[in-house]
Amino acid sequence: MKGLEVTEKLIEETRQGESLEVISTTNNTRKMYIESYGCQMNFSDSEIVASILTDQGFSTTKNIEKADVVFINTCSIREKAETTVRNRLKVYNAIKKKQNPGMVVGVLGCMAERLKEKFLEEEKLVDIVVGPDAYRDLPNLIEDVDNGKKAVNVILSKEETYAEISPIRLGGNGVTAFVSIMRGCDNMCSFCVVPFTRGRERSRNPETIIQECQKLIEDGYKEVTLLGQNVDSYLWSGGGLKKDFNKLSSEEKSKSVDFAQLLEKVALVSPELRVRFSTSHPKDMVDDVLHIMAKYENICNYIHLPVQSGNSRILELMNRGYTREWYIERINSIRKIMPDCAISMDIISGFCSETEKEHQDTLSLMEYVKYDFGFMFNYSERPNTQAQRKLQDDVPEKIKKRRLKEIISLQQTHALYRTKQQVNKVHKVLVEGLSKKSESELFGRNSQNTVVVFPKENYKPGDYVMVHTDSCTSATLKGKAISVA
Ligand code: 5AD
Ligand code: SF4
Repeated sequence: MKGLEVTEKLIEETRQGESLEVISTTNNTRKMYIESYGCQMNFSDSEIVASILTDQGFSTTKNIEKADVVFINTCSIREKAETTVRNRLKVYNAIKKKQNPGMVVGVLGCMAERLKEKFLEEEKLVDIVVGPDAYRDLPNLIEDVDNGKKAVNVILSKEETYAEISPIRLGGNGVTAFVSIMRGCDNMCSFCVVPFTRGRERSRNPETIIQECQKLIEDGYKEVTLLGQNVDSYLWSGGGLKKDFNKLSSEEKSKSVDFAQLLEKVALVSPELRVRFSTSHPKDMVDDVLHIMAKYENICNYIHLPVQSGNSRILELMNRGYTREWYIERINSIRKIMPDCAISMDIISGFCSETEKEHQDTLSLMEYVKYDFGFMFNYSERPNTQAQRKLQDDVPEKIKKRRLKEIISLQQTHALYRTKQQVNKVHKVLVEGLSKKSESELFGRNSQNTVVVFPKENYKPGDYVMVHTDSCTSATLKGKAISVA
């Protein structure tokens, strides 16, 4: 970071999104405010945006009324995510009218990519529209607006990975950080807008990933989460679009790095650095990755493995590339190689033509796996996806909701079952901060990603602490520290 002195860092959480962070700087006078919605990748992208603009003389503020430029980093995954953003823009509009008439408003991310120039027509207050691959152009776009123009750049790239940009950690806890390892998605799940909004899949140079992780540990961070839409298809073969491994020349093959190899390199950065990753894809997750996880103590025993449905016909309609049986085999493999690995899922309820029996298949699959955590959604038809073009969104809203309720309620019983299994044991916990409920308690997570709360004593964020647990709720373990790990 050139000429920048970080003197203060504050965090403010809003209910739907996260806006954040004051970084007061000595030289940087123009103020930007960034609010992020959606997936972890969006939060990580906002840190890249902050870095690009810091180099251009901006500092971040959490005070929207004082900001010169306000950015909203948006999500398109479900209709509800877009409605949330539209409602937020109404709030910005009111602030602009009453408190901050000079403020420039920029829309970033997936919704910007999906709607392009239409955004400027639909939302009159928006000045800048920028897709996920065009953040390097932000300084020019802001200049255009300074010169009285509206500015749009939604060009998707086959190469951009922001590889060498050092993200400015926004609103973090100083202990855990996201590291993006790839961008885009080539999978074309029939329900999903991401391939359209984030473009083709490309992997980031592993050297820059390792450098970023080394820098994080030097700065006192203790955990990284490697991010990609499908981390299992990470493949570095010298840059550009991902190639099929089998089509690489023998020289390219010898120099290439796949996800298992990358994971090992990151684990070796430091035994003090915990490693997590997200998201895994059942069709691509190979045993090599599981063996590397089992080999290194600092790679956390937790896999987010979205299933979407427990029925093979629905999975085929979703274009997921696996069957129920294949998915179960992957689960069995995880259990065999890492018996204490936590597993979580995403499930979509009421996808096109889903019958009651097929919904029951999802419940029975859940019963088999007994997931530790789950993210569950009603199907939401998205414009221009394969499902929208070729299938009927024909499960009535009422039935979708009822099925979702059944899925959520079953998941709650499984979460409690899994958390209870972790009571009366000793866990290595990485402390992240003060417990939300009490200032005399700390919270952190164990390897399985379960939150653990315990009395503070003299421990502090960033410490690894051995905690003996004695009780739990469905999502949280409670216990007492027995020693520093
Ligand atoms: N409707 C509902 N849920 C969706 N997801 C993605 N697209 C849709 C959609 N159109 C869910 C999937 C995915 C998660 C990130 O969001 O479960 O894994
Ligand atoms: Fe969307 Fe499927 Fe890619 Fe995930 S893997 S981002 S669900 S297309």
